[in-house]
Amino acid sequence: MNLKRITILCAAAIGLMTAATAATPVYLDKTQPIEKRVDDALSRMTLEEKVALCHAQGKFSSPGVPRLGIPELWMSDGPHGVRAEINWNDWGYSNRTNDSITAFPALTALAATWNPAMSALYGKNVGEEARYRKKDVLLGPGVNIYRTPLNGRNFEYMGEDPYLAGVMVVPYIQELQKNGVAACVKHFALNNQEKWRGNINVKLSDRALYEIYLPAFKKAVQEGKVWSIMGAYNKIWDEHCCHNARLLNDILRGEWGFDGVVITDWGGAHDTRQAALNGLDIEMGSFTNGLTSESGFGYNQYYLADPYYNMIKSGEVPESTVNDKARRILRLIFRTVMDTNKPLGSLTTDEHYAAAKEIGDQSIVLLKNTGILPLAPKPGMKVLVVGENATRALNQGGGSSELKVKDMFSPLDALRKVYGPGVKYAMGYKTGRPMYAMEDTIPVSVLDSLRDEAIAMAGEADYVIYIGGLNKNAYQDCESTDRREYNLPWNQDALIEGLVKANPNVIVANVSGNAYAMPWIDKVPAVLQSWYLGTMIGPSMADVISGKVNPSGKLPFSFPKKLEDNGAHHYGEISYPGIESEIAGNAADDLKGADVSAGRDPQQEYLEDILVGYRWHDTKKIPALFPFGHGLSYTNFKYGKATLSTRTVGPDGTVTVTVPVTNTGKVAGQEVVQLYIGDDKARVLRPQKELKGFEKVTLAPGETAQVTFTVSPDDLKFFDDAKHEWVAEPGTFTAYIGSSSADIRAKASFRLK
Ligand code: BGC
Repeated sequence: MNLKRITILCAAAIGLMTAATAATPVYLDKTQPIEKRVDDALSRMTLEEKVALCHAQGKFSSPGVPRLGIPELWMSDGPHGVRAEINWNDWGYSNRTNDSITAFPALTALAATWNPAMSALYGKNVGEEARYRKKDVLLGPGVNIYRTPLNGRNFEYMGEDPYLAGVMVVPYIQELQKNGVAACVKHFALNNQEKWRGNINVKLSDRALYEIYLPAFKKAVQEGKVWSIMGAYNKIWDEHCCHNARLLNDILRGEWGFDGVVITDWGGAHDTRQAALNGLDIEMGSFTNGLTSESGFGYNQYYLADPYYNMIKSGEVPESTVNDKARRILRLIFRTVMDTNKPLGSLTTDEHYAAAKEIGDQSIVLLKNTGILPLAPKPGMKVLVVGENATRALNQGGGSSELKVKDMFSPLDALRKVYGPGVKYAMGYKTGRPMYAMEDTIPVSVLDSLRDEAIAMAGEADYVIYIGGLNKNAYQDCESTDRREYNLPWNQDALIEGLVKANPNVIVANVSGNAYAMPWIDKVPAVLQSWYLGTMIGPSMADVISGKVNPSGKLPFSFPKKLEDNGAHHYGEISYPGIESEIAGNAADDLKGADVSAGRDPQQEYLEDILVGYRWHDTKKIPALFPFGHGLSYTNFKYGKATLSTRTVGPDGTVTVTVPVTNTGKVAGQEVVQLYIGDDKARVLRPQKELKGFEKVTLAPGETAQVTFTVSPDDLKFFDDAKHEWVAEPGTFTAYIGSSSADIRAKASFRLK
């Protein structure tokens, strides 16, 4: 606990003791409802104190109200574990010895479990670590929609489908917040690429906004009851998201009734008047020299600091704006750090490791298998592991989600536990130091010799397990940069081709948070997609490869065959990455994510509109290499006929669809049964079908489950831009039930009256 915090808590305690003689002030009276306590605290505060609540006092905290014993609010990244302590006033790590944590699987992995119970487990466990580390706000989870495989930050999000992301985000928030730690769902909204994130100006239809990009945020607010939200760096309709009137005032507060706090992304505020009026509550910062030096951009110079105070004083913006902000921030403080009933939390426990392992196990996706997997260990078996990701510290780099782990069990170590210490290893390629925004140049001669060595060793082995993919360096899966190409980097395609030539038994088990091209797909017998699984990455991967765990993950996003097959890339530069409008110094901004505005922002239009991900592949009839929802098992599942509760439904009625699913194989397994709904004929363009339900069932060999989905009136609607409302048109709808978006096993149609 830092000194300032101790002082504040002591002040609060002394306040309480002296209050034994006088009456306890209402704001400190735990028996009173929060709203009454907030009102009371607010009534005692000066204008200076209210304004002070609205901006950072250091890199990750805001000040509270010391005079009243109201403590500081401490925030931390998020979202895959609690980040190591950062210095008060710069981005350096403070090198403590008590901030090593459990790294949980990245959110892409969580989404790939297609299991809300895994989200609940995740929220509970990461919440306990955040509480133990005395954090009041965990900066995550992220639910920006996966629009392009080039987005460097997709690994922090939950895939391409708003329904999947929405269902998965809710239990995470609920369980996290039970620890007295607020979730801060981010980045609201449309931070769907890192290139030019600071000032890209996005234009899109209301339909795409409401149908694709907002629903997961809406669920986080209305069902998850999230206590805070982080504004995105980018602009929408010419206004920065952190103080975007339409986004924050009209939609978030107005339409959704959000009662929590909007926090900027770090350095995401740009204008005091807009920040005052347009629904921003706390301004946090990236680019301050602040506090100790009087120079440049100190905390009191933030848009929501002295400039705000002065505008209120001069009457340029009403005082009611700061009352509203302070009220929300106090509410957040009472919900978190002032909640005296909150648990104590815990760190790196066996339970946390087991949770990380279970989530990891359920997330790995078996993309292809001709029968080589599972690879049961046999005496004398010669196994060669190739690839840098078998040993690399993948929790490092990547940006703000970087983690300092207490333990990290690597795939190579875990595979040696399963197949014996004789397992050989060849790096195959090399990428340099695992650091945020780093990109080392590796001489071609080094890459060539690593490749030749691995290929030579492959010829000697019975089996080759290839563990490559992407990593967290700049231009890979990394904040502040987008990828430069869809293919795997560092000549991995040539390496894989070379390995298969030397040995046909190559099992590819890549780690990434994004899709990539697989020109070698027809030549390899098996491909597993793993993710950044954190502390337990090795044991999860080894157990799936060896068959101890039967894979049950499903892709939360499509793998197009080539980049142009993705909707965002179909329309050229204006759609991705946007068109630069005479911006100076872009290359440098690429790395820092800094704003380069001055009225010359890159312009972007989401021309694929609502046809994101599989909606594009399906509707345009462009098959993906591996479709959304795809994932195989070591057993087989047979789907029976779908039956409907009714063939005709009224506008307010519901239909249930039931389908029997049987495990026809020899081992127990889990299947994610997916329900998609399509409107057979509509006056507007609608996707061929959209995910509206899923259930992960566990089945013993021979066992059958009756899986029932309820289709509600909302599941049939589209967002009508002109009317600004959700509309369902009478006519025929089809329920598609399948094992992936492209593997439909049963269908049934019904009429909406
Ligand atoms: C990121 C946020 C993060 C914040 C604090 C920003 O650069 O975009 O996601 O929470 O930094 O580290």
